[in-house]
Amino acid sequence: MIQAKDIFSGTERVLPGGGLKGEITVPGDKSISHRAVILGSIAEGPTEIEGFLEGEDNLSTIEAFRLMGVGIERDGGRVSVLGRGIEGLSEPDDVINAGNSGTTTRLLLGLLAGRPFFSAITGDASLRKRPMKRVVDPLRKMGALITGRNDGGLLPIAVFGRRLKGIEYRTPVASAQLKSALLLAGLSADGETVIEEPEKSRDHTERMLELFGADIKSSGNAVSLKSTNRLKGCKIIVPGDISSAAFFLTGAALAPGSELLIRQVGINPPRVGIIDLLRKMGGSIEVDAGSVASGEPAGNILVRGSRLRGVEITGPELLPAIDEFPILCVAAAFAEGTTRISGAMELRVKESDRIAAMSECLSAIGVRNTETEDGMIIEGTGGKRARGGSIRSRGDHRIAMAMAIAALMTEEGVNIEGAGSVDVSFPGFFGLLGRTRVG
Ligand code: S3P
Repeated sequence: MIQAKDIFSGTERVLPGGGLKGEITVPGDKSISHRAVILGSIAEGPTEIEGFLEGEDNLSTIEAFRLMGVGIERDGGRVSVLGRGIEGLSEPDDVINAGNSGTTTRLLLGLLAGRPFFSAITGDASLRKRPMKRVVDPLRKMGALITGRNDGGLLPIAVFGRRLKGIEYRTPVASAQLKSALLLAGLSADGETVIEEPEKSRDHTERMLELFGADIKSSGNAVSLKSTNRLKGCKIIVPGDISSAAFFLTGAALAPGSELLIRQVGINPPRVGIIDLLRKMGGSIEVDAGSVASGEPAGNILVRGSRLRGVEITGPELLPAIDEFPILCVAAAFAEGTTRISGAMELRVKESDRIAAMSECLSAIGVRNTETEDGMIIEGTGGKRARGGSIRSRGDHRIAMAMAIAALMTEEGVNIEGAGSVDVSFPGFFGLLGRTRVG
């Protein structure tokens, strides 16, 4: 089995700093990069991807499709995928190692359930703890034969691919990974697959399926797809990842004197919660919505340092900022007054239990907070520096990056254990931080 990189290693010390200044771009969107490789691999003809994220998670997706016989060439962020149609996938002759990537795992479970061969997926210590039942249960309703630890709820999981039938399914949680898994299964299921979510999660899969020629319709929180084995290869231009931009946006919003322009960031509506929430906290952010490329809107974001204030953040407000919980906790840590975040239960089953992780990290640098069952209460310092100290990232890239930004607002700086995890979604993060920081 191909071994994934050890992302739990490495310590980085981030010194206290002033603001962030300049003009930057951030690496390509992680979610869109995964989907471009997946759809390119099951489409007919070449798919050319520009701006592909060279993060460990996305490299896991590429390796998975190479194992299934797809020709994929990569030169930095340029990727060529030579798809031979969904029926061109062949049985992998080894276990697929998804590394740290929940997206790779869940989307592949959906796709593989309807392919006529055997496959098995595993991942790193963090991924092997994450819940897969939410995907496996509806796939079984579609006729899938899946086994694994904990009755198919935990990796390693084996899939005995076979013919599926379309279903109508209301998901218990708003999850783009779950929705996308069922859509990919729906491609090779008899009839139509209809999915309704309690709230609308990110819709990159729907947008890209349409681009590749699928018969897919969205209305409100529901989406329906007719089965097809005829997707056509495309050119995909991947915008910058707003979830990566979020660290720089927050760092600049927090520190007076900052002025940072981030170019060509994806601003798809179900992803821009961080902009709305920072504005709600009093942040000065201007968005120049420029272009639409490959069905995804992108634009430039200008942020200036300001005084942030504590706010109430509820579940529906957090959904379009689901991956931004760690950095929002940092924004709250240095805001004026108390921030209460609720409805964040999903954060307990991400790459780490992000509620427990952020509570521990903020306490470690001297910021008062209380962990609640579904969120956090954070007492902001009102712009004053926190003490600083040492934190454990738990191998979670977003915890490591959030605490690197927090370090700028401390007296002593922060030692980040498990700093290698940033390579999961943002290779070059520490270098870019070094180039934009003032002082
Ligand atoms: C993702 C969906 C979200 C998000 C993850 C990427 C995707 O997960 O947290 O980082 O690409 O579909 P959930 O579907 O579990 O909410």
